Amino acid sequence: MSTRTLRLAMAGGGEGAFIGAIHRAAAALDGRWRLVAGTFSSDPERNRRSGETLGIEPARTYNSLDALLTAEAALPEGERVDAISIVTPNHLHAPMAIAALDAGFHVFCEKPMALDLEQSRLIAQAAARSGRHFGLAFTYSGYPLVEEARVRVSRGDFGKIRLVQVEYSQGWLSQAIDREGNKQAEWRTDPARAGLGGCLGDIGTHAFHLAEHVSGLHVRELCADLTTHVPERRLDDDVSVLLRLDGGARGTLKATQVAAGDENGLKLRIHGEHGGLEWTQMEPNTLTLRWLDRPAETLRSGGPGLAESTLLRLRTPAGHPEGYIEAFANLYRAFAARISNSAAVPGVDDWFPSIEAGLRTMAFVESVIANSASEEKWTELAVGPLPSG
Ligand SMILES: NC(=O)c1ccc[n+]([C@@H]2O[C@H](COP(=O)([O-])OP(=O)(O)OC[C@H]3O[C@@H](n4cnc5c(N)ncnc54)[C@H](O)[C@@H]3O)[C@@H](O)[C@H]2O)c1
Repeated sequence: MSTRTLRLAMAGGGEGAFIGAIHRAAAALDGRWRLVAGTFSSDPERNRRSGETLGIEPARTYNSLDALLTAEAALPEGERVDAISIVTPNHLHAPMAIAALDAGFHVFCEKPMALDLEQSRLIAQAAARSGRHFGLAFTYSGYPLVEEARVRVSRGDFGKIRLVQVEYSQGWLSQAIDREGNKQAEWRTDPARAGLGGCLGDIGTHAFHLAEHVSGLHVRELCADLTTHVPERRLDDDVSVLLRLDGGARGTLKATQVAAGDENGLKLRIHGEHGGLEWTQMEPNTLTLRWLDRPAETLRSGGPGLAESTLLRLRTPAGHPEGYIEAFANLYRAFAARISNSAAVPGVDDWFPSIEAGLRTMAFVESVIANSASEEKWTELAVGPLPSG
């Protein structure tokens, strides 16, 4: 057990990238991680500039992940990095994660886990044979009021769960910006770099993970309609799915990136026999509960009535809004606790999504694609056995 600050390396996240900067801020937030090395871009000059801007020693700004792994593995244990954070486009997740795990490093990886389920299984096998930890950035599970929602469902406040409705509505891909130089849009619509799913893999996986995480139920079968609205786009930009979950619960999942004008509209509703809940990502500090026999309740971050495990995920008092970076930081805090075997807060080391979540989300992607392309009404969502060490 150790509570020392852990040393982090980053793959991706160079100048102009989106999510790398969020990871860096989140990892730094609780003082458990320090970024000391990286390979930030495939372009050497951009990589060098990025390392310099971030205050990384020139000798630890590497021109490739292979160079990083070789050099870091050769450093004394007290200097080498503990984990690699992978924040590149999706096609690099599997090769980079497998190489890093095999070289003896823990890996915290962006979603989707890989291009497909087969690659995800290879990551799972590498984690099992290396004995190293693998975390996945399903960010939304890190929000305090998502934890409150999960607690309320699991302790039976609403009775048996009947309905799980999740919607992730974005509009930023409504036009062909992927062919007009938008870097983030460009790789997300290229099957070689995004994977089997477009919108499905990019945000459908977030919605699916959130729905299973909060409801505590697994999706067993689904019926899907996958569409591409923007002409000549090579991957889906819109998906609708009917879900059959454990215990007879029914659900719907809508994910779209062509809802013109929408920002980041992730919304979850879950209902049981006596009432239900609603949480929306753009108002993350509010959780609404509705009941058959009494008025609705509004729970607020830091306010009264919250579970202990929710309060532990908050850093500021009521009325001081927390958001995306803090949710990410909860995942980094959990990953640090798992790696250093130092869960000062009981259970904190379980707060991050891992292999099983990754495999289930990739099985979801493949089942949706198979179902949408076939005439059959329902397709089973089958993950297969988890690889063991
Ligand atoms: N969890 C979330 O909420 C969330 C949000 C956004 C993106 N993501 C995921 O994060 C990942 C990155 O997305 P983004 O929007 O930041 O993409 P981006 O295009 O903005 O950034 C990708 C970065 O990877 C770098 N890169 C590419 N090839 C590289 C290589 N060989 N070596 C080193 N660096 C390399 C690029 O130079 C760039 O800096 C994707 O997998 C995406 O799905 C997750």
